Amino acid sequence: MIVAEFVDLRSDTVTRPTAGMREAMATAEVGDDVYGEDPTVNALEAEVAALFGHEAALFAPSGSMANQIALQLVVPPGQELLCDADAHVVTYEIGAAAAYGGISSRTWPAVGADIDPDVVAAMIRPDGYFAVPTRAIAVEQTHNRGGGGVIPLATLRQLREIADDAQLALHCDGARIWHAHVADGVPLIEYGRLFDTMSVCLSKGLGAPVGSLVVGSAEKIERARLIRKRMGGGMRQAGILAAAGRYALAHHVDRLAEDHAKAARLAEAIAPFGVLASAVRTNLVPLDLTKSAFDAHALAAAARAEGVLISVLGPRTARLVTHMDVTDAAIDRATHALTKIFRS
Ligand SMILES: Cc1ncc(COP(=O)(O)O)c(C=O)c1O
Repeated sequence: MIVAEFVDLRSDTVTRPTAGMREAMATAEVGDDVYGEDPTVNALEAEVAALFGHEAALFAPSGSMANQIALQLVVPPGQELLCDADAHVVTYEIGAAAAYGGISSRTWPAVGADIDPDVVAAMIRPDGYFAVPTRAIAVEQTHNRGGGGVIPLATLRQLREIADDAQLALHCDGARIWHAHVADGVPLIEYGRLFDTMSVCLSKGLGAPVGSLVVGSAEKIERARLIRKRMGGGMRQAGILAAAGRYALAHHVDRLAEDHAKAARLAEAIAPFGVLASAVRTNLVPLDLTKSAFDAHALAAAARAEGVLISVLGPRTARLVTHMDVTDAAIDRATHALTKIFRS
C-alpha cells in the first residue's frame, strides 16, 4: 500500500480529485449517456470539440480506449498504421489495434518527439494487392517514453502535408497535449487543425480521476459512438466523471507550468550525475542509467527506502513525473533523496 508520506513521482495519473473537483462531481447534472442524455457529458464533449476546432468529441473511459476507437475510425482491418516504436498505442495498449481493429502496425525507430518526416514518408505503402496499404500515421504529443518531449509545430505541419499527399489520416495521441500547449505556447486549436482524429486525456496531469475524449468530425464521432459501445465503453450517469473533466479543463491547464518547473528543478538536481536521458521539456524526467552504478530496479528500491516512488521503464531506464499532488516541499525531499542515492 502507498502511504501518504511517499513522494509519488511514478506517474501523473496518481493525482486525487481536489475538494473543488469533488464538489463539481457531487453536484453534476446527470442522465443516461448511452441514450445521449447526460447533459454534463454532452457539455464536456462540445467544449473539448470546440477547444480543438473540431465538430465533435466523444467521452471514453480511458486514453487507451480513446486511442483505439480513433485508430479503428481511420484504419480498416488488414490495413496499416505507422507510428514510432515507443508509441503508447503499440507499447502499452496490449495489442489492441491488432486484437480489436485487425490493424497492422509498422513503426519507425523510437526517437521520441524528434521525428524525421522524411523517414515517415519513406515508409508509406500505396494501395495494391501486393502489400499492406498504409492508412494512417499516429504521433504522440507529448511523448511519454520520449521523456515528455514536445513535437515541434513545424514537424507536425510537415507530417500533415505528407499525410495529405498520400491521402492518409493523421492521429494524435494527445494524452498530454495540454503539456505541449503550455510548454510551447501553441494554441490547442492550432494542434486540432492538424489532425483527423485526436485522443486527449483528463486524468494525466489535469487531475480528473478518469476520462478521455476522441475528437474528430461529426461523421467520425457518430461512428466512434458505435465502436465505443462495441468495446464496452458505453457509460450511464457518466456526468459525475465528465464534471471532473470540465473542472480540470477550467482550473488545471495553466497550472501545468508549475509541474514543468518542478520537473526542471528535479532535472537540475540530477544533472551532475549523468543520468538525464534528454532535455526536460514538460513534466517527465527520463533517466538513462546505462552508465550508473544503479540499474532501474535498484534505483527504485533505493528511492523507495528514502520515501520516493519512481517508475521503472526498462532494465536501465527510469522516470520521474511531476504532477499537482507533488508540492514544492515534496520536490525538495525528492531532490535530496536522489542526490544522496547517486552520491552513495
Ligand atoms: C501517451 C499516452 N497515451 C495514452 C495513455 C493511455 O491512457 P489510459 O491509461 O487512460 O488508458 C497514456 C497513459 O499513461 C499515455 O501516457
